[in-house]
Amino acid sequence: MADENGILLECRKVSKLFGDEGKTQQVLQMIRDGVGKDEIQSQLGAVVGVREASFDVKRGEFFVIMGLSGSGKSTLIRTLIRLIDPTDGEIIVDGEDITKLSEEGMRNVRRNKTAMVFQHYGLLPHKTVFENAEYGLRTRGISQTERREKAQSAIERVGLKGWENYRPSALSGGMQQRVGLARALAHDPVILLMDEPFSGLDPLIRRQMQQEFGRLQEQEDLTTILVTHDLDEALMLGDRIAIMRDGEIIQIATPDELVTNPADDYVASFVEGASPARFLVARSIMSEDPITVRDGDSAESAMNLMRERKIWSVFIVDGSGKVQGVTSWDAVQRAAQSGSGTLTTSTSGVRKPTTCDPGMSIDELFPLVLNTRHPVAVLGERDEVEGMITKNMLLEALAHDIDYDEDEVEAPSANGAGTTEQANTEVPSV
Ligand SMILES: Nc1ncnc2c1ncn2[C@@H]1O[C@H](COP(=O)(O)OP(=O)(O)OP(=O)(O)O)[C@@H](O)[C@H]1O
Ligand SMILES: [Mg+2]
Repeated sequence: MADENGILLECRKVSKLFGDEGKTQQVLQMIRDGVGKDEIQSQLGAVVGVREASFDVKRGEFFVIMGLSGSGKSTLIRTLIRLIDPTDGEIIVDGEDITKLSEEGMRNVRRNKTAMVFQHYGLLPHKTVFENAEYGLRTRGISQTERREKAQSAIERVGLKGWENYRPSALSGGMQQRVGLARALAHDPVILLMDEPFSGLDPLIRRQMQQEFGRLQEQEDLTTILVTHDLDEALMLGDRIAIMRDGEIIQIATPDELVTNPADDYVASFVEGASPARFLVARSIMSEDPITVRDGDSAESAMNLMRERKIWSVFIVDGSGKVQGVTSWDAVQRAAQSGSGTLTTSTSGVRKPTTCDPGMSIDELFPLVLNTRHPVAVLGERDEVEGMITKNMLLEALAHDIDYDEDEVEAPSANGAGTTEQANTEVPSV
């Protein structure tokens, strides 16, 4: 069972040292003192594989570990199920500190909760696809009928139905990779660990496998930790990505955060090739202070606000802050000159706003923003207006520049007032 935060695996200051065990305490002290990997190696001859790695993985999450060759990815993922014993730190899996388990206890965890796919999938060449998929289940003492069902279902899930009786050598690399995956899935793992599982595949098959895997992950109640060198793979599949350098995790972030806000130059160089627009969501491109007025407020005061802030659209909200309408300068000005002088949802020119969630992707936002002449309202948890997005903001974001300046975006025509209802988005600069 995960704890109440839904955390399934937690790594607390995990370090792995290679070298003279007599120097372990000395090296750990140097790590605590912040001495670098190279320095430790030259002084004590010890290699720091992993350095005080701390992170947690939520149930159902797809967690990716990236970093240059030698940065400690394989060492870290292997310590998570103690294929390599960590030198220091705690690893909590499903509420249990596995660093304290006996070898037997650890075997049970591996058998019942985890499965690992290695880079060179480790298939048994003399066994058939079916036997390979079934292998491992045999050690768990489950009945033959159940083993068969699980293996068959896993084979079908990875798209290898019809290949059950072939040997791995009769399969392409991509298909063999899927056998490895089927073997892991047949276990019904709670946590699936994968170390560069797609790296041996040619680009076309790799993309196909990644996409299939993305779908699989959505269908299965699976928590996955993936090591990869491939940025696109990390960005496409990862809910969060940890970047390692010299054994240390230097940033953990969502794809979106990583691309738009890399922690340092090293991370920036990793994500250089990524197009930010692909990972942007409504929250990252919206303006955070749209003008909102209460239903029935004075149109004159709305005009003052608009002039003051140079924002030429206004959202009308009800007593509980929920958005009910949106309109532009023209309509507000007309309302100010009308009998009541108030702005309500039934005022001429006030429309029902188009709305979206803060997490909506650019792809989904496009049609929404293009199909309305008013800004799109980004709604918070209680349906309050958290922000707004105009066509210009979307374009700015796509131009890789999300530091747009609201003043420039929302300017009225020269006479200080827009001439059409498009005033919010399309009026030329003053
Ligand atoms: N058995 C070992 N004995 C000594 N040093 C090791 C051992 N295994 C790994 N290391 C060292 O630990 C560090 C991390 O290695 P690791 O294999 O985890 O890197 P990686 O990030 O997986 O690299 P790659 O991308 O090349 O697979 C390296 O400096 C490596 O030399
Ligand atoms: Mg590795």
